[in-house]
Amino acid sequence: MGTRTRTDGPLKPYEALSAVYDAWTANNDYDAWADFIDARLRRHAPGAADLLDVCCGTGLLTARLQKRGYRVAGVDSSEGMLDKARGNVADGTRLVRADLPAAALPGGFDAAVCTFDSVNYMAGEDGLVQLLESVAAALSPTGVFLFDVNTRGKLENIFGDSHYGDDCGDFAYVWRNRHHPEQQSVDFLITLFLREGGAFTRYEEHHRQRWFSHEEIRAAADRAGFRVLEVLDDYTPAPATQDSFRETWVLAKPAAGTASP
Ligand SMILES: C[S@@+](CC[C@H](N)C(=O)[O-])C[C@H]1O[C@@H](n2cnc3c(N)ncnc32)[C@H](O)[C@@H]1O
Repeated sequence: MGTRTRTDGPLKPYEALSAVYDAWTANNDYDAWADFIDARLRRHAPGAADLLDVCCGTGLLTARLQKRGYRVAGVDSSEGMLDKARGNVADGTRLVRADLPAAALPGGFDAAVCTFDSVNYMAGEDGLVQLLESVAAALSPTGVFLFDVNTRGKLENIFGDSHYGDDCGDFAYVWRNRHHPEQQSVDFLITLFLREGGAFTRYEEHHRQRWFSHEEIRAAADRAGFRVLEVLDDYTPAPATQDSFRETWVLAKPAAGTASP
């Protein structure tokens, strides 16, 4: 068995990774995340039926939320991820390719979610504000937005300048991180070997994640017209602390929680 190397440079994030994303994330407890989101929506957006899964990836969460009775549409920038999502979500699900944070989102949703570090990809100048403004525009006046973020602690202490890798049989990867403290960000240089027929093909992707302080997230939420309802430690009911590596934020549009039952 040989190795082929693509020579036309790094791919867009997730275009090669999409082929193995579902295996690579096998340890993510999407059912627990969906249960948690369902409970939070019942509390903060009772009666919510139409959800937007922002950066839906391969639809692993989308499908779980659909199984819990929600109508869910998804948006993502990666055609590869969306192709995989079509095999995971309910037939007829609306899946839209959109480069955030600039792209306009479809509208009329009761709530939106954005999971597994996707918000950290909004690394450009004003990326978070733009994202929150786009999501706000996609929601009804009582809409709620639940998302998670990797924290500064995770980017600095877990990712840092580390590297790791694994041989997973049909694919293998080498993951090198480059920390840029002045930009609050970490670049992931990912080399991926995918079994394709009788050979492994080598792919490269470059990703960038940025961390956001509480002050930045609160200011962005304010500019987009959201109230901050909760800042939780990962997908648990416990408040986030200095030691949290992932936070779950729940934001609400001004009229949320004030509508008559
Ligand atoms: C770690 S994956 C998470 C996918 C999914 N939410 C989940 O929980 O499995 C991050 C996703 O964000 C998408 N993404 C990254 N940057 C994006 C951007 N600028 N606009 C839209 N989607 C983006 C990627 O294509 C990828 O599907």
